[in-house]
Amino acid sequence: MTSKNIDNLRDSLLSKIESAADLNSLDDIRVSALGKQGSLTALLKGLGKASAEERKPLGQAINEAKVKINNAIAIRKEFLDAQALDLRLASETVDVTLPVRPEQEGKIHPISQTIDEMVAIFCEMGFEVAEGPHIETDFNNFTALNIPPEHPARQEHDTFYLPKKEDGSRLVLRTHTSPVQIRTMLSKKPPIRIIVPGRTFRADYDATHSPMFHQIEGLVIDQSTHMGHLKGCLIEFCRTFFGVSNLPSRFRPSYFPFTEPSAEMDIGCSRKGGGLTIGAGEDWLEILGCGMVHPKVLAACGIDSNLYQGFAFGLGIERAAMLKYGIPDLRTFFDSDLRWLQHYGFLSHDIPSVARGV
Ligand code: DAH
Repeated sequence: MTSKNIDNLRDSLLSKIESAADLNSLDDIRVSALGKQGSLTALLKGLGKASAEERKPLGQAINEAKVKINNAIAIRKEFLDAQALDLRLASETVDVTLPVRPEQEGKIHPISQTIDEMVAIFCEMGFEVAEGPHIETDFNNFTALNIPPEHPARQEHDTFYLPKKEDGSRLVLRTHTSPVQIRTMLSKKPPIRIIVPGRTFRADYDATHSPMFHQIEGLVIDQSTHMGHLKGCLIEFCRTFFGVSNLPSRFRPSYFPFTEPSAEMDIGCSRKGGGLTIGAGEDWLEILGCGMVHPKVLAACGIDSNLYQGFAFGLGIERAAMLKYGIPDLRTFFDSDLRWLQHYGFLSHDIPSVARGV
């Protein structure tokens, strides 16, 4: 080996590098020179055979050649990279004047939207979401709620019964979300602050009734809960849900077997000009049922009514959605008509979150 050999090899590699047409051939050249079997690597390996005084200058020359080649590769690579990017930019231009392609976007059903809105409001107040099964025992759906077997309220509920069991008992499709009150009180100790959105079932079908519908139930049990808490909580809820900060409201005495006293809450509305507007006006609209939990219900769940009291409420989700979003017929919620959903449905960014505020 002579220094001439090294110079020749270096020059021929440098000229190949300079004329490499693309990144792949550049890499082939790099491997052919510096790889394990590369020509420059072979020269380094051959150094052992050189005489002692030649070894140092030859070694230095090989290393210098290596540095030059590496630099040349880096410069060529930068050039080829930039060239490849220019090529891509030129070939991938976007014509911003083209019309957009029509896109089918899914919509969120008004029931899901309304449940999300209600849950966000109540969670902000410190409520937790509880759930229960659609198939219930007679005890949870009726008896524990102070609706004994011969109670007239049982007839009003148009219950779907499952076939009788051998012992004569029969399960029901829950007629309201109230049995989740019982389940919760039986399984955990006060303080309790829950809301229960969910499906309910009654044998009824017309423009304002469907055999399957949704309710949201609320239950608060604590040591010093009183009717003022009930009113404050529900007034705040209705104002936030309907987005009317000075929404008038009133509580009318009513009757539910599971609350004493019981009330129905009305909100102010106007029916002028045929339409219905929620807010100040000359009229009232019933919105929900509520009351202080009956001592017998607490007793059925093993809660001492001398120590604990609470309030409960229940409202129909379809009805609230119809009022808020101007949907005229309850049955259309469950027709699965895509045109209806496109019209009344919501985009995913409409979903309220507690963080964003309702
Ligand atoms: N469960 C009742 C119904 O389906 C609604 C209701 C009224 C629930 C008053 C309550 C309440 O918790 O206190 O008609």
